[in-house]
Amino acid sequence: MLATCLKVPREKAESIRRRLIESGLLDISFRIKGQGEFILIPVVSKEIDCEYEFVEEELQSQEKTETDYKNIVKMPAELKDYLPASYDIIGEVIIIKLDEELQEYRNEIGNALLKVHPNISTVAEDRGVKGELRVRDLNIIAGKDKTETMHTEHGVRLLLDPAYVYFNPRLATERHRITSLVKDDEIVVDMFAGVGPYSVMIAKYAKPKIVFSMDLNPYAIDYLKKNIEINKVENIIPLEGDSAAMIHDLPPADRIIMNLPHSAHEFFYDALTCLNPGGTIHFYTICERDSLDSVFAKLSMQARSMGSKITIDRLEELKTYSPTMSVYSADIRFSDLDLVEDW
Ligand SMILES: C[S@@+](CC[C@H](N)C(=O)[O-])C[C@H]1O[C@@H](n2cnc3c(N)ncnc32)[C@H](O)[C@@H]1O
Repeated sequence: MLATCLKVPREKAESIRRRLIESGLLDISFRIKGQGEFILIPVVSKEIDCEYEFVEEELQSQEKTETDYKNIVKMPAELKDYLPASYDIIGEVIIIKLDEELQEYRNEIGNALLKVHPNISTVAEDRGVKGELRVRDLNIIAGKDKTETMHTEHGVRLLLDPAYVYFNPRLATERHRITSLVKDDEIVVDMFAGVGPYSVMIAKYAKPKIVFSMDLNPYAIDYLKKNIEINKVENIIPLEGDSAAMIHDLPPADRIIMNLPHSAHEFFYDALTCLNPGGTIHFYTICERDSLDSVFAKLSMQARSMGSKITIDRLEELKTYSPTMSVYSADIRFSDLDLVEDW
């Protein structure tokens, strides 16, 4: 039968398939089909905001199976309104946050998720991110007692254990955007690298001179070393320790990634002093929406105290964090005073 499909490059197919499932746009009445370098993914609508082409193609039909865990979870109907609509998928592990009202049914919820996701082997409840290493407190509620897994995004394979290291699968598009900005022979510093999702993608798809990848968490650095091997990339130097101290021992950078949203501002001065004029900082911050201007005013004052200037080239609200707070991504360019005409 003829089906409407999204034609996507093979290496991006898995992450796009997951996003389509999460947004209810995958047409599960057809089988996915390979076509040379591309994968044809059946979709229920063309109202999808993406860069890929839609094609009409003969696909094999398949029996519809349930894809929404809410429809099959065994629990009182009146509590189903508390069930979360979204959750994270990291490789073969689902991580889900559950309200107090759902605690009694957590194993049923986990089992329902396993049923609708045949590729998932473990479901874990997220009890919050703790400490400066930002590691999640996970409680396994269904499936295997194993959280180490291989996650793939944009063709980059990342081995990690979310019970020991921080990893956010929702930043894949952001990491790809930053990778596309890296110019040949740049010196890149990934100050809070985790298991290396930014560093490995940059080393794989761009041509930096070197990427220095730092993290305080020894488990993250161990996984980063494995991910360098798994992806057969060169030009990454893993460094375990406090990036505020280690960055001063490095050659000046052209690009610094600061993915530590709760406290990146505390490291901004150290980063600026190690950035080449004309260089860029990718700065992530969580703040009150109405205090965003003052956050950047403080960063600007730090630059001025060094006799320099910063310019926000791009600012994006990545997601809502609380009723009044959001997570932002800013591309901040740094210029020497001599280069600043309007000082
Ligand atoms: C929000 S996570 C980001 C990880 C990674 N960039 C990603 O996208 O998955 C922040 C990381 O910073 C690390 N970290 C926290 N404080 C640090 C410090 N002073 N120096 C180096 N790494 C630090 C944590 O261990 C954690 O892995």
